[in-house]
Amino acid sequence: MAFKWSLSVLLFSVSLFLHCSIGSSASFGQAERLIRQLNLLPKDAIVALGDDELMGSSSSSSIVEKRFTFYSLGDSGASVEDLGHHAGYYRIQHSYAARMFYLFFESRNSKEDPVVIWLTGGPGCSSELALFYENGPFTIADNMSLVWNDYGWDKASNLLYVDQPTGTGFSYSSDKRDLRQNETGVSNDLYDFLQAFFKEHPHYVNNDFYITGESYAGHYIPAFASRVNNGNKAKKGIHINLKGFAIGNGLTNPRIQYQAYADYALQTKIIDESDHKSISAMFPACNKTINLCSLKGGNECITAFTVCTSIFNNIISIAGDVNYYDIRKKCDEGGLCYDFSNLEKFLNLNSVRDALGVGSIDFVSCSPSVYEAMEGDWMKNLDVGIPTLLKDGIKMLIYAGEYDLICNWLGNSRWVHALEWSGKEEFSKAANVSFNVEGAEAGIMKSYGPVIFIKVHNAGHMVPMDQPKAALEMLKRWTQDKLVGEVAAETEGMVVEI
Ligand SMILES: *[C@@H]1O[C@H](CO)[C@@H](O)[C@H](O)[C@H]1NC(C)=O
Ligand SMILES: *[C@@H]1O[C@H](CO)[C@@H](O)[C@H](O)[C@H]1NC(C)=O
Ligand SMILES: *[C@@H]1O[C@H](CO)[C@@H](O)[C@H](O)[C@H]1NC(C)=O
Ligand SMILES: *[C@@H]1O[C@H](CO)[C@@H](O)[C@H](O)[C@H]1NC(C)=O
Repeated sequence: MAFKWSLSVLLFSVSLFLHCSIGSSASFGQAERLIRQLNLLPKDAIVALGDDELMGSSSSSSIVEKRFTFYSLGDSGASVEDLGHHAGYYRIQHSYAARMFYLFFESRNSKEDPVVIWLTGGPGCSSELALFYENGPFTIADNMSLVWNDYGWDKASNLLYVDQPTGTGFSYSSDKRDLRQNETGVSNDLYDFLQAFFKEHPHYVNNDFYITGESYAGHYIPAFASRVNNGNKAKKGIHINLKGFAIGNGLTNPRIQYQAYADYALQTKIIDESDHKSISAMFPACNKTINLCSLKGGNECITAFTVCTSIFNNIISIAGDVNYYDIRKKCDEGGLCYDFSNLEKFLNLNSVRDALGVGSIDFVSCSPSVYEAMEGDWMKNLDVGIPTLLKDGIKMLIYAGEYDLICNWLGNSRWVHALEWSGKEEFSKAANVSFNVEGAEAGIMKSYGPVIFIKVHNAGHMVPMDQPKAALEMLKRWTQDKLVGEVAAETEGMVVEI
């Protein structure tokens, strides 16, 4: 137990939601070796599983799902018996032996609410991190009880969490070739999963559908949204009612976002003017490798990843023990910037595993193998597909907690402003307005047409964790087309209250 704990510390020091290379490559290799020795990777764990032990492992249907009930403290806001909570495995169609794990929570409000899928980043970190620490129906208490989250996104949506790419969380394969290396593989798997999911749940096919997520999902989401849109346009399979996509503190356009690191770090005074000068001088080399990556692909993209990452590492080496997900905080010893240990503790309880039908697979929050396999994807620019999505009437919400360094609001604001679409000029000229929640400013918002950008106050990388009420309000208003013009709506509400 003690050993496993220290291992998870190691893991966290090299791979959290986004960034691994902060730890030295020596400690990364060491972590990998330890994991291999301990057989902890899901792809290794499957070897030890009996066929009938794991839900769906011997089934011929592509999706196997079970309903589960967790005993939870507090008020769910709905009759628990009525709530459909499902866990399932999808046998990935275009794979050798991959199974994708997902959790589906019916809305506590109405089954007619939109279907919202959430993707956590990494690459290789489980979406259960968000479920239990950000926007899921419950949180985990220190004594391993579950407590209802009053601001879970299932209060306004039918909510899906998926562990992906293969090898993440409870998703696994016994075949190494199933590790994905780029957004083509990632988005095809997600699209195939959606097709199977809606076939299993026809009741939800006509609901509005939204794609959401965080951090490295700034790469997954535009690719996935384009895949769904292309499938719809080609009239292939089930039509998916995609209305919009939202990215929280994402990495979408690395060229712009890596150039913004030094500026954000100077603005927030974690580095000084002379550091800013020397770090900015590193950018042209990074820029060049990004050019080579987009020209030639392959190993050039791994080089770009290494060269550009040194910009971030330099800032961290100057800023010291700052928590790079929330610069107001310190990153404590071992590089463990947050304590998420309850998650692995909880999901590795036998009773929980039985309830979810995941057999004896060891749950690891973030997988180094998945992360490594995706290194060549990191420096790719994923904003290129967005103009078509906007033209096709799909909404985009980009939001960012103002104290996050790693996917900071400045870099996100810059790529949104630079995006080449028909409304570029008008968006640029649009005024900043307040995003108000219960009469207080929760953020600053700028919008034009289908594009909304919000800088969220008093939040780091994980906005729904730091500002749960504001995050739920944001989702609710956005999916109901009430986010813009909410000033008027709030004023009306206040008049009524008075
Ligand atoms: C576990 O913790 C929760 C939340 O702190 C508390 O409400 C509950 O009473 C505790 N349960 C036990 C059995 O101690
Ligand atoms: C994506 O990765 C797969 C291997 O996983 C490879 O066959 C394919 O060519 C790659 N596609 C692109 C566009 O890089
Ligand atoms: C980065 O590369 C692009 C493409 O070659 C070029 O237009 C731009 O000026 C470069 N920026 C910097 C700061 O080097
Ligand atoms: C709008 O808000 C952003 C983010 O706070 C700020 O950087 C920018 O200067 C503001 N623009 C105007 C015109 O006030």
